[in-house]
Amino acid sequence: TKRRILIARAIHPDVVAFLKQHFEVHTNDADTVWSPEQLAQQLQGMDGVLTTSSERISAQVLAACPQLKVVANMAVGYNNFDVDAMEQAGVQGTNAPDVLTETTADFGFALLMATARRITESEHYLRAGKWSKWSYDMFAGAEVHGSTLGIIGMGRIGQGIAKRGAYGFGMNVIYHNRSHLSPALEAECKARYVSKDELLQTADHVVLVLPYTPESHHTIGAAELAQMKPTATLINIARGGIVDDAALAQALKAQRIAAAGLDVFEGEPKVHPDLLTVPNVVLTPHIASATVATRRAMGKLAADNLVAVLGGELPLTPVNTPDATAKSLRWNSE
Ligand code: GLV
Ligand code: GLV
Repeated sequence: TKRRILIARAIHPDVVAFLKQHFEVHTNDADTVWSPEQLAQQLQGMDGVLTTSSERISAQVLAACPQLKVVANMAVGYNNFDVDAMEQAGVQGTNAPDVLTETTADFGFALLMATARRITESEHYLRAGKWSKWSYDMFAGAEVHGSTLGIIGMGRIGQGIAKRGAYGFGMNVIYHNRSHLSPALEAECKARYVSKDELLQTADHVVLVLPYTPESHHTIGAAELAQMKPTATLINIARGGIVDDAALAQALKAQRIAAAGLDVFEGEPKVHPDLLTVPNVVLTPHIASATVATRRAMGKLAADNLVAVLGGELPLTPVNTPDATAKSLRWNSE
């Protein structure tokens, strides 16, 4: 008999068809965001699940689903997983890195450009019929080419943004990260390691691309915003919670920094109400990896992970190494 898997949200139909060749597939045709209780209920009897960032895999969910063996996230970030609980429960987790790197770096740069050059703000003005005459300083923004780009979080996506800035726009690239890149990678990215303080004080554009962890919570709060140049922009394509959104809204309102571009939010899909009323912020609904090809590729990688693990092979992109004893209990309970 085929193993049973749940696809927790709607995904590209090609990937659903592929999974149906391997498994008994259960889907969420209404594409509802299930509560933890609903998710646990839908997971009854399932060997594996394909999740997105909207499904939280908690200790409670794992305890309620003793047959579950693998959780494949269709995202590079996996802060929706309780990794410790998955270790202890013997459940394999996987993520979807690499396939989204260049696409997400493109978007980071798009958001930087839109923010620096005030593209959405000026479009709103035009659509509202307010354009009656040209003036020399109308929507005058911040320079991008030749400016200093500060990247916090220098994983693959951060490196992609660094290269776009250095090679495409002649930017001076500085970065801060938990660890230094190798000299070879630093040379390839034309990027120089600096302290967080130096980065905040000298960058014209600060881009956040680090994973969300308890340590990265509020990496940017009121104190960090106060360190930034009044002409600087802040771009967050990482995760909500890395920025203190209330403090950022205040800083934007008071023009303590020039502008921000945000793809992710604390408590999304809710957005801090003050961010919705300040003009100098570009807001997008967590779409940095959203191209047709990349969303399909992310789904396929998650699917390949399910096929590997449930076929007794090693996962392609694991995020944990489950406890062997707990794991064998899950596999032998059938
Ligand atoms: C998207 O936010 C991802 O983590 O892939
Ligand atoms: C994070 O792991 C990245 O790909 O940047």
